[in-house]
Amino acid sequence: MKHLYNDREYLEIVGQVLDNEEFNKLKLIEHHGISRYEHSLKVSYYAYCIAKSLKLDYVEVARAGLLHDFFLSDDERTSKDRFLSTFTHPKKAVMNADRVFGISQREADIIKSHMFPINLTVPKYAESWVVNFSDKVIGAYELSRKFGYRFSYLLNLYLIFLFNAMK
Ligand SMILES: [Fe+2]
Ligand SMILES: [Fe+2]
Repeated sequence: MKHLYNDREYLEIVGQVLDNEEFNKLKLIEHHGISRYEHSLKVSYYAYCIAKSLKLDYVEVARAGLLHDFFLSDDERTSKDRFLSTFTHPKKAVMNADRVFGISQREADIIKSHMFPINLTVPKYAESWVVNFSDKVIGAYELSRKFGYRFSYLLNLYLIFLFNAMK
């Protein structure tokens, strides 16, 4: 995998988003121990590489992957707000992405369903599953760097719970 800043095709696809003033505000918001901007970029590029190798629509994957957490945290002051935001932020990100950039139906689905199965919006397209998977892998890596063994322990408990719920 190339470094994303050396991938001209990728940078051309997402250039409009990266140049946007409102999107750049994500650089100031902490997310999993890094900035939300950095997290979104990593999810987008990882998903773009997977989508390309699977011959999926990698342009929509790159764009929607970048916009999947496009929300500003002004209304997340308490830990309760932050907890509730886990379930509500995909909808806010869809609204912001559409307002600022105009998005396709599939890009909306990619953003809306990226938190499944934590929330219950099931991805409708292969492209949505790719971003969902990418967000889980990158997110788990970032959170384990931030919280160390405590996060790995909680992740294992969650996976056991999920596995039992699906039986
Ligand atoms: Fe998210
Ligand atoms: Fe995310």
